[in-house]
Amino acid sequence: MTCTRLTISRASWAVLALVAGCANPERSRDVANPAVSGAVLAQQVCSMCHGLGGTAVSPNFPNLAAQTDVYLVSQLKNFRARQRRDPAGFEYMWGLSHALTDAQIDGLAAYFSRSTPQRQRVEGKAERIAAGQHIFEQGLPAKNIPACAGCHGDKGQGNGMFPRLAGQHGDYLVKQLTVFQRTDERSDAQTIPTGAVMKTVAHQLGREDIANVAAYAQAMPNR
Ligand code: HEC
Ligand code: HEC
Repeated sequence: MTCTRLTISRASWAVLALVAGCANPERSRDVANPAVSGAVLAQQVCSMCHGLGGTAVSPNFPNLAAQTDVYLVSQLKNFRARQRRDPAGFEYMWGLSHALTDAQIDGLAAYFSRSTPQRQRVEGKAERIAAGQHIFEQGLPAKNIPACAGCHGDKGQGNGMFPRLAGQHGDYLVKQLTVFQRTDERSDAQTIPTGAVMKTVAHQLGREDIANVAAYAQAMPNR
């Protein structure tokens, strides 16, 4: 079924049925229609990139399954307010989020935070993952880097404003750590300056440290 309005004069009931079908909030993919619930958008729009249930096939798209509710709400509001402005963030997420209502954002966050994540493949070499585990659990005191577990949880499960990292795509984690480290694209404009916290943490991480800790986080079990 197509949503283009028909100009031809077929039986008017058929035209009406088509238009009604497009406006049906249970089936709509319209991110600018406040009547469409977060759960419907999650399945019909977000799933194209983030996967049905929030586990994305491509590492370009972060997994959202079992991400914390508070963090999901905060990031969607940051995208909507154009405060998270790393290139992939504005290219993909600004347009999608700009007309979302607070109620839709709450619904989207509820849907994804309650989804069960799929286990990721373990991709890094064992030594890399072990080095990453060390950083995650102990930090690197010589470089003033705190243990990631202190905020993100000992299983990487996240807590409130601290996002879940366990089972996240390693490529995505590397990209975001580089964003925090080298730019203000996720830190200086936020209403609640949570990005600034990570900027400080990421500051001293070397390239190898980033690759190691990202490989470990991807390999972490889901629960
Ligand atoms: C066309 C692909 C695409 C669609 C559709 C899409 N996203 Fe995204 N989304 C992305 C990309 C790419 C990123 C990573 C942005 C970055 O690197 O900053 C992202 C990031 C996010 C993040 C941040 C995740 C994190 O760990 O910080 C959230 C939350 C999010 N999207 C929610 C949604 C929701 C909710 C929808 C549906 C309304 C949606 N996205 C639809 C591509 C998409
Ligand atoms: C003092 C608390 C704290 C510590 C310690 C910490 N983080 Fe974070 N981290 C945060 C907060 C807060 C955010 C959310 C930032 C935002 O809202 O933009 C975050 C976000 C992230 C993100 C972005 C996730 C996403 O889905 O986009 C990554 C990656 C990350 N942290 C990795 C790490 C790593 C690796 C370490 C250890 C070297 C670490 N963090 C240590 C507080 C912390």
